[in-house]
Amino acid sequence: MPNANFQQRADALIRNLNETGQLKPFYEVESPMRPVVQVRGHGEVLVLCANNYLGLADHPEVIAAGIKGLQDYGAGTASVRFICGTLACHHDLESRIAKFVGTEAALSYVSCWNANEALFQTLVAADDAVLSDELNHASIIDGMRLMVKGVNKQVYRHSDLNQLEEQLKATQSAPCRWVVTDGVFSMEGDVCHLPQLVELCERYQALLIVDDSHGIGVLGKTGRGTPEHFDLFGKIDILTGTLGKSLGGAAGGYIAASRRTIEVLEQRGRPSLFSNALPATVAYSAGKAIEVVERHPEIVQRLHQNVRRFRDGLKQLGFDCHESPTAIIPIMIGDEAEAIRKSKRLFEMGIMIIGFGFPVVPRGQARLRLQVSAALSDEHIQRALDAFAKL
Ligand SMILES: Cc1ncc(COP(=O)(O)O)c(C=O)c1O
Repeated sequence: MPNANFQQRADALIRNLNETGQLKPFYEVESPMRPVVQVRGHGEVLVLCANNYLGLADHPEVIAAGIKGLQDYGAGTASVRFICGTLACHHDLESRIAKFVGTEAALSYVSCWNANEALFQTLVAADDAVLSDELNHASIIDGMRLMVKGVNKQVYRHSDLNQLEEQLKATQSAPCRWVVTDGVFSMEGDVCHLPQLVELCERYQALLIVDDSHGIGVLGKTGRGTPEHFDLFGKIDILTGTLGKSLGGAAGGYIAASRRTIEVLEQRGRPSLFSNALPATVAYSAGKAIEVVERHPEIVQRLHQNVRRFRDGLKQLGFDCHESPTAIIPIMIGDEAEAIRKSKRLFEMGIMIIGFGFPVVPRGQARLRLQVSAALSDEHIQRALDAFAKL
């Protein structure tokens, strides 16, 4: 039954977004994700906004592995994990993830969003305190909303270690303190202050959770993420991450931690108790993506070179982008409609890069977010810098 109130509300929102130039276009890509894709109605476009950091989304071995997963196990589990939905390839993938990120064990999910939803509601108990960076990803924020009542939830200013320490001091009576941070912040492209966070957590006996979705495959000499970048591999209590970015780019996520922590998640985590497991296609393709990175660390080094080239080139052109070793380069614009206009202008020049505004970033801090891939050639990078020069 149509509801007039809802209809009015929906119409008003879409009309307003349209009139203020904030309506997001949804381009239809007709080819695999790679540096140059085919966009319906527009032809070939150079992609600078995918999370395909290592260019593995169309890697022949990754594709072949996905096909083999489909052949070996069919379309899906038709069950949740604890009933009859655990496939041997889930355990194979989870062992590979744990080894790659430096923990005892891991559990896979259909997305990192889903992993972050599972994490807080399952592990955090009433009277615990959770201290969270204000720029943490939306999946952490929403995951924390699902925690049991009675948790002392504190948000500290972005990477403000003094405020975090004050919060740690003020919550000494909590049975468990949990500090949670993105490894690489998805909109700023900066890295968390991991050595100081580890030190603070040790001093105050807090558990540290790092969501390394944008760090895995990107940071560290061999792509093992933010902990490797800071020489802290194997020192983080709990890591979460996605398989939907550098590691094949399909979908899927994980929580990696001690074996006991993973057992608690397996026994009590609602998302995996009540929802189907990762399809075998993805378990195979993501597992293969990790294997490719292990065999070819030079792909990670190529990404680091490309990041340097882009950052130097943009700086020379006078763009305002924060300095950082990550593959996320925010180009600050300010006004949301202007960011969307600039992204449309680049699109007309054959470059796909998205303008981000509210609610993804705070009002007035709209930006273009450029994401670098190891698969970009020198010619691709030059073409992009030429387009930026025109902009
Ligand atoms: C820091 C962070 N965590 C979690 C996610 C969600 O990942 P997924 O696409 O696997 O749900 C993202 C995706 O943008 C992210 O940037």
